[in-house]
Amino acid sequence: MKDIVAVVLAAGEGKRMKFGHQKVLCTLYGRTMVDYVLGFVASIGIKRSIVVIGYKSDVVEGYLRQSREGVDPQISIETAIQKETLGTGHAVIQTKELFTDFKGDILVLYGDTPLLRPQTLEKLIATHRENNASCTLLTTYLKDPTGYGRIVRDTKGAITKIVEEKDASPVEKKIEEINVGAYCFRSRDLFKALENVTPTNRQGEYYLTDTVGILAHEHLNVCSVSTNDLEEIVGINSAVDLQEARRMVRKRILNKHISNGVTIVDFETTYIDDDVHIGPGTIIYPHTVIEREVEIGRECEIGPFARLRPGTVLENRVEVGTFVELVRSKVGEGSKIKHHSYIGDALIGKKVNIGTGTITATHDDQRRYITEVGDNASIGAGTILIAPVKVGSGATAGAGSIIAKGRDIPAGAVVAGIAAKISRSQERNHEYIQVDTNTL
Ligand code: UD1
Ligand code: CA
Repeated sequence: MKDIVAVVLAAGEGKRMKFGHQKVLCTLYGRTMVDYVLGFVASIGIKRSIVVIGYKSDVVEGYLRQSREGVDPQISIETAIQKETLGTGHAVIQTKELFTDFKGDILVLYGDTPLLRPQTLEKLIATHRENNASCTLLTTYLKDPTGYGRIVRDTKGAITKIVEEKDASPVEKKIEEINVGAYCFRSRDLFKALENVTPTNRQGEYYLTDTVGILAHEHLNVCSVSTNDLEEIVGINSAVDLQEARRMVRKRILNKHISNGVTIVDFETTYIDDDVHIGPGTIIYPHTVIEREVEIGRECEIGPFARLRPGTVLENRVEVGTFVELVRSKVGEGSKIKHHSYIGDALIGKKVNIGTGTITATHDDQRRYITEVGDNASIGAGTILIAPVKVGSGATAGAGSIIAKGRDIPAGAVVAGIAAKISRSQERNHEYIQVDTNTL
């Protein structure tokens, strides 16, 4: 989309959340609020966004930098610092220098309104351009408009101003049409109007919303687009709002997978993060948690009671059953891990059978190591694989085996047994004991 830049306001502390950390970095199913906003901005083809940051700006800036790694280099995310959070209008003023010579439109969004739909923003921008408007804003109607800015219109229905809840008269408080907090402004009109905004209100803030009244007063064209989707407009101001938004995001995510041909047996107990890919024909049984950065192929069976953590990749027709936890692991086509296992940092080949209760021991004090299991291998129940270790293709480990660090199993070999020994002792001349259960 040409001649349009997004400005995302994210400098506030989010005091009403009462957690002490930056509000826009709160997550909804594996993605932060600010990521949702930047995501839908990018999805409608806006290539440049400026995020206004203030509270714990170093943390937010660091987050933004790291989360952009590997993302489309054509999309630029810049930041502007608002040292004191003196209001949404004051926040936009901090971006002024970044718009010298810019004559296009500015889409202003709030970092705490993460559920807007891209189609709604497209409509907002299209309406703005068709009407050659100075400002076009998004509104909706709420039976209980408490907390939102109210849209004040004259007898002909033209917008005359926005009044904030705290400044509204009893009559204005009754207005059910509210300001969602998404605006398209003609850039030069926005900055000119902002020069006339004053903090003469109950909160002593420079309100962005006052620009609407200023533009209308100057007889510039102020338009609106209305949405009746009450889920998309929710502004997250409190922990309760966040919880409510999580519920909505969860439903959106599950519906998306269902429409892609995934079967989710129980919506109530299935939790899937936002950027998870699942192939069609896959069935997710109840009480399953699938976290971000997980990829699942076609026709897999997951759960009940499975947890797939970040970095898990399942190829097609993999079965992951009851009480299985997987993390940073790839499982090849047709492999089965059906019960009570922890598999971490592992590369499991195709058609492997991992028996009940198999565990990868991945850490020492220093770092994590990789476990590899080749195609068609069979790992018996209760096996412990101590990484780094490789099990060759077609190899079989008997039930209860401990496959020790570095003791790679050749392809096709059959192994069994436990070899536990004292590897360290407090006494100097300790006795060296070796236990082999095969002899017990
Ligand atoms: C704002 C609108 C209100 C609208 C509602 C929709 C104003 C004055 N009011 O109210 O009309 O109905 O959103 O959800 O705009 N921020 C800054 N710097 C600041 C202050 C805020 O960057 O100095 C950011 C916040 O981090 C937040 C966003 O702007 O992401 C909105 O601020 P918030 O205080 O939540 O505004 P509301 O009271 O919800
Ligand atoms: Ca808000």
